[in-house]
Amino acid sequence: MKDSSFKTKSVREGHQSSNEQEHSAAIFLTSSYCFDSAEQAAERFETNQGNVYSRFTNPTVSSFQDKLAALEGAEKCQATASGMSAIFATIMTILKPGEHMVASRCMFGTTIVLLNSIIEKFGIKVTFVDLPDLDGWKNSIQNNTKLFLLETPSNPLGEVVEIKKLAAISKQNDIVLAVDNCVMSPALQRPLSLGADLVIHSATKYIDGQGRCLAGAVAGKASIIDEISLFTRSTGPTLSAFNAWVVLKGLETLSLRMKAHSESALKLALWLESQTFVEKVHYVGLESHPHHKIAKDQQTGFGGIVSFEVKGGRKEAFKLINNTQMISITANLGDAKTTITHPSTTTHVRLTKEEKQQTHISENLVRISVGLENVEDIIDDLNP
Ligand SMILES: Cc1ncc(COP(=O)(O)O)c(C=O)c1O
Repeated sequence: MKDSSFKTKSVREGHQSSNEQEHSAAIFLTSSYCFDSAEQAAERFETNQGNVYSRFTNPTVSSFQDKLAALEGAEKCQATASGMSAIFATIMTILKPGEHMVASRCMFGTTIVLLNSIIEKFGIKVTFVDLPDLDGWKNSIQNNTKLFLLETPSNPLGEVVEIKKLAAISKQNDIVLAVDNCVMSPALQRPLSLGADLVIHSATKYIDGQGRCLAGAVAGKASIIDEISLFTRSTGPTLSAFNAWVVLKGLETLSLRMKAHSESALKLALWLESQTFVEKVHYVGLESHPHHKIAKDQQTGFGGIVSFEVKGGRKEAFKLINNTQMISITANLGDAKTTITHPSTTTHVRLTKEEKQQTHISENLVRISVGLENVEDIIDDLNP
């Protein structure tokens, strides 16, 4: 997709004016909808056409879904209450008890908790692999494997897998490939165009872009999304109209923000690389990052997440975090405000010692989500 048409779609797609002819999207705060007659009610319930109840459909939520589907190049999108409910709905839809999935080891901490502690209760088995290791994915396939689940680039270390090659493996084996695209957003990476079947979002992050609300979504082929919709409308984690409105407006400015986040993140990463208090910088936009070339081929930018190891251990990492004056100490990412966190004791705290070692979540690792402030001010705040 040309960048210009992406920008136009992000502003224009999904807008449906009501009879009031409002220019900016309205928020439809209603739980249910009225029918002209009992016959019309019966028809709507029978056919699933038209609004019935906001756990099923809502015009503001539909506008968000239509816009995000257009931006991801998807046939259809289902919004959810959060990124985690999008991931859970996907797993519950694709897998049955007794079936198996393969997941990247390098994922958001709560996703790992979900896979380790909750999914097993439903009789689903999970094998973890190193994200970039294509042979690892291939060799983990069993005759009952139904889903590959991953984030690329991973949060917080920016590891990358070649989506096209992994999609070829998943297609050959009739496995659904689902990519959590939250760290990139469709402005920088469109996994469906690279062969993935589903793209998952925590819209809480860059899609909102200002740290205001929780939201999530899954987009892809209509036949799978219809199944996911059945799950969300029957179990309840649908997106509220108000939150849908927030993320719908967030999408309008997404590409401008992602460009600015990426530019500042690269400047910060280059500065960090030159600092004596820093042992190692993990930013996939740096030529020194082992996955830089693959990322350059499948992404149109490198995003705003910069992680780095300080010299020393937890004490030195905490000292650096505590010394900041402007940057917010909070675990969220994708905000206009720059945020800083210590993954080992926050986002990834529930991982075992062994899991932390395997995924390189070390005690001296600090993660920054680079915001939209002047990058010189961000650098000044980190300068010891
Ligand atoms: C990559 C990734 N996926 C999913 C989630 C979960 O999203 P939410 O907090 O909206 O449930 C997060 C949250 O940080 C995340 O970073």
